[in-house]
Amino acid sequence: MAQLFPKHFNTLAKASILGGLLFLVLIGTGLYIWSRSVFSTQIGIAKDQPVPFSHKHHVEGLGIDCRYCHTAVEKSSFAGIPPTKTCMNCHSIIWNEAPMLAPVRESWKNKKPLEWNRVHNLADFVQFNHSAHIAKGVACTTCHGQVNEMPLMWKERSLQMQWCLSCHREPEKFIGPKDKVFDPRWKAPDQAKMGHELVSEYNVKKLTNCSVCHR
Ligand code: HEC
Ligand code: HEC
Ligand code: HEC
Ligand code: HEC
Ligand code: HEC
Repeated sequence: MAQLFPKHFNTLAKASILGGLLFLVLIGTGLYIWSRSVFSTQIGIAKDQPVPFSHKHHVEGLGIDCRYCHTAVEKSSFAGIPPTKTCMNCHSIIWNEAPMLAPVRESWKNKKPLEWNRVHNLADFVQFNHSAHIAKGVACTTCHGQVNEMPLMWKERSLQMQWCLSCHREPEKFIGPKDKVFDPRWKAPDQAKMGHELVSEYNVKKLTNCSVCHR
């Protein structure tokens, strides 16, 4: 059969296929980097809130226990965000005229909850459960960082699947005594030795099946 296109068209076609492949690889790499970047994971970026609530002040400064505000964390999958009532326990008396706290008083007066912006938010197709982690000695700071030093809350870990799995595969590297879970200042003296002992004492399982987190 007679040739329909001149020879150099072949070279051109090959070049454009190669160019197309290169383009796809570049896009793929770009997306991969983006998915692990600060912009997409929001690590270390403080979230604005309707009231500049400071964990540094309330936890480190005043020594209030996590459970005073996050009351459900030991018993349910959610830690929960405290209602305005919890703030008013103190702020109807202390700093009860501070302009900074006006939104809190307004919320109390109008019985309208404050709209806190979420800092951590997993996709709907992932199961997570606070109480299961607390019960096996995973400290709040292991996942949330030094919240006692945060003037405004930010995310300390990616919450991506690889991060969850890094601990589910080797929990001995992370777990600590149950009675230190809520103490943000506690540091493990010898994680390697303690971790192994606690894994057998608490009967910690290595939960790596997909169905543990995706149901
Ligand atoms: C006096 C009340 C109070 C205490 C005590 C407290 N928190 Fe909070 N926490 C809040 C409020 C209010 C918010 C919502 C505003 C924000 O994100 O800063 C919050 C938000 C958070 C968030 C982010 C929630 C999200 O949106 O993803 C984490 C994580 C958290 N707290 C952990 C802790 C830990 C760990 C402790 C104990 C070491 C603690 N908190 C003690 C009131 C409190
Ligand atoms: C157990 C008592 C107590 C509770 C509960 C409490 N606070 Fe406070 N809060 C204080 C005290 C005391 C101060 C003054 C801290 C200082 O100046 O050292 C303060 C200060 C503040 C300030 C001023 C800025 C700062 O951090 O110094 C804000 C804003 C604030 N609180 C918001 C809240 C909100 C919102 C809640 C509810 C989620 C809340 N507080 C719950 C005791 C409390
Ligand atoms: C194993 C890791 C891990 C530990 C340990 C952990 N958290 Fe969380 N926390 C998360 C994840 C993941 C989310 C996001 C959950 C979601 O989006 O469904 C979250 C969300 C939260 C929230 C937002 C409200 C909610 O319930 O979703 C608060 C508040 C919170 N954690 C407080 C705490 C406190 C207080 C402790 C310690 C008593 C703690 N967390 C221990 C991983 C952890
Ligand atoms: C630092 C360690 C650590 C991290 C990080 C961690 N986990 Fe876990 N997880 C555990 C331990 C320990 C258990 C309890 C194992 C057992 O029951 O013996 C557990 C149990 C669970 C369970 C089972 C709950 C049940 O109903 O029994 C789910 C679901 C889960 N984790 C989801 C997650 C997800 C999703 C993430 C990431 C967002 C995550 N975990 C991050 C240590 C961790
Ligand atoms: C310990 C908990 C955990 C286990 C076990 C787990 N995943 Fe995930 N998976 C997650 C989390 C967390 C995400 C990210 C959700 C998000 O970005 O909000 C995720 C995301 C995904 C995604 C979406 C793409 C992505 O990477 O974000 C797929 C697909 C997926 N998982 C498949 C699997 C399969 C298949 C298995 C078993 C081999 C598995 N997962 C085991 C926690 C888990």
